[in-house]
Amino acid sequence: DSMREGRPVRVETRHSIQVREPVVSVSVCGHLPLCELAESSEFNESKGPCLAFRQAASVLKSLPSAVHCLKAIQGLPCLGEHTKAVMEEILTFGRSFKVEEIRCDERYQALKLFTSVFGVGPKTAEKWYRRGLRSLQEILTEPNIQLNRMQRAGFLYYSDISKAVSKAEAKAVGCIIEETVHWIAPDAILALTGGFRRGKEYGHDVDFLLTMPEMGKEEGLLLHVIDRLKDQGILLYCDYQGSTFDVSKLPSCRFEDMDCFQKCFLILRLEQGQVEGERGLQRDPGDSRGWRAVRVDLVAPPVDRYAFALLGWTGSRQFGRDLRTFAQKERQMLLDNHALYDKTKKLCLLATTEEDIFAHLGLEYVEPWQRNA
Ligand code: CTP
Ligand code: MN
Ligand code: MN
Ligand code: MN
Repeated sequence: DSMREGRPVRVETRHSIQVREPVVSVSVCGHLPLCELAESSEFNESKGPCLAFRQAASVLKSLPSAVHCLKAIQGLPCLGEHTKAVMEEILTFGRSFKVEEIRCDERYQALKLFTSVFGVGPKTAEKWYRRGLRSLQEILTEPNIQLNRMQRAGFLYYSDISKAVSKAEAKAVGCIIEETVHWIAPDAILALTGGFRRGKEYGHDVDFLLTMPEMGKEEGLLLHVIDRLKDQGILLYCDYQGSTFDVSKLPSCRFEDMDCFQKCFLILRLEQGQVEGERGLQRDPGDSRGWRAVRVDLVAPPVDRYAFALLGWTGSRQFGRDLRTFAQKERQMLLDNHALYDKTKKLCLLATTEEDIFAHLGLEYVEPWQRNA
């Protein structure tokens, strides 16, 4: 399969490289190899190292220019011993042996491949790996594998949803969602969130937040939207989760906790004709279908939580994590997608806009496009 073909076949020892190859000094970003290390740690359930590598990757990404010597990263925050060792390898040899070892690792390759399927997390991937399965084809033909509904959709639309969504496609999806939502409720409030709100050119899905100006009116909204998408014949898959939101609960300290608002994870059918621009749909060459499947997330908080949900769902994940850490460490406040709690004053701080939240935190407003940490 393609992943195995892509890997470097020459595996050399550190020693032989040092003897044969001259020491070179190259400029590197270092962001990608560190992301791979983070991912590998995640597969090994090493939460600490995983977070450390992600943090370090984010710091390197934020630098104005590529790094060309170790001195350039000496004073940077969040770079641990492991990260520095990897950067040293890359700066000296033009590559990291540690990272190359991981890329060649059979388990890493299999888990990366399996978790690339919508609905397959590290636990399921690990289970399949332990059963000796290595390719997607093997999973589909293994008689004793029970796929859930989400995973069946993940395999069915695999080639489409593993392809990046372009800005033009996201815009077309936005038009469909906008028309659908406002057909149901003309006064509904709708916003694009996620990576596309941060100005990214490509994404793995398109995220939206919607609510009603009057508290409580948002309750049935998402189910109506889902019905309407079904009526239009464009709903390929829907996983709806009702609200479990509890007003009396304090914001969560743990970043991994999902928020409790009603939401749905969808796969929509996007027609070629709806996408503007020369290239139109992101498709395989030779694929003559006039449509593609696109992953879409919709979240519907009550309006008094809208600003918190908007901030949380705009991301990036790392930016959100950093903001929460800042709130807790520097301000003794708890921030999540629902609320901001001041531990000193023992009360929740209200916000109608993201600007309000930054102001409560004593921070200057950060534009969405500056949140790509
Ligand atoms: N998010 C969240 N709760 C979830 C899922 C996502 O708060 N249950 C937040 C994440 O922190 C993320 C944002 O919503 O920053 C968007 O999530 P996602 O679509 O996964 O990531 P994007 O940043 O949009 O990137 P991509 O292009 O891969 O979609
Ligand atoms: Mn997204
Ligand atoms: Mn993502
Ligand atoms: Mn999403």
